[in-house]
Amino acid sequence: MRILVCKNYEEMSKKAAQMILSQVTLKPNSVLGLATGSTPMGMYKELVSMYKNKVIDFSEVTTFNLDEYYQLPITNDQSYHYFMHENLFNHINVKKENIHVPNGMVKDIEAECSRYDNFIKESGGIDIQVLGIGHNAHIGFNEPTINFERGTHLVDLKESTIEANARFFDKIEDVPRKAITMGTGSIFKARKIMLLACGEGKAEAIYNTVYGKVIPEVPASILQFHNDIVLILDEEAASKLNPEDYKIV
Ligand code: GLP
Repeated sequence: MRILVCKNYEEMSKKAAQMILSQVTLKPNSVLGLATGSTPMGMYKELVSMYKNKVIDFSEVTTFNLDEYYQLPITNDQSYHYFMHENLFNHINVKKENIHVPNGMVKDIEAECSRYDNFIKESGGIDIQVLGIGHNAHIGFNEPTINFERGTHLVDLKESTIEANARFFDKIEDVPRKAITMGTGSIFKARKIMLLACGEGKAEAIYNTVYGKVIPEVPASILQFHNDIVLILDEEAASKLNPEDYKIV
């Protein structure tokens, strides 16, 4: 695991956007695995401004999002489909047909999950996967549980995740109780992984991810076994780590 620590959120976002820029410059038809949540918003803002300044071109890029709420229409401004279009897709030149977000509205969830896994496979696999992290170390919507799930699947969200995400909804009752997510197995298959975390609230999850036992109760801990992973943190998220283990950038 390479761990880079940035002074603040802005610097973390810039660093993350530079990594995406390098990836897309070296391989214009890259397959990007993308995440939602408040953490990557600054990175998306940077990418939009790079695009506007003609520094990056998304015309050959394919994207796969990690997850989507179950039974939340894509017109709802809290759906991840909506989020991604608002924060990134509507402002860059990625082709509509190259954008993939799991469909949480379908009746046959199992078919949707295998369709999604097949799409990823047919696209050649994910070149770089962007991840945030939940307070309980969930990645995508892979909540702490008793086994690592291989592929895309439907999950029951933990009460703590519902509470954490309630800040985006009018009231907690509006937060969906289920979601579709790529499995830890699918995430692990990405050639490169870049996990972003900021704020003191993530410090413990980051500590457990880096030093903890590799167990499904700490979903992000599996990343210790990945051979090309970088954690980009702000100082607060890195506050419980041993300074010898990271590089200040
Ligand atoms: C949600 C998403 C995750 C994200 C997490 C943290 O649960 N499914 O992909 O990493 O929230 O969100 P935030 O970045 O807002 O703290």
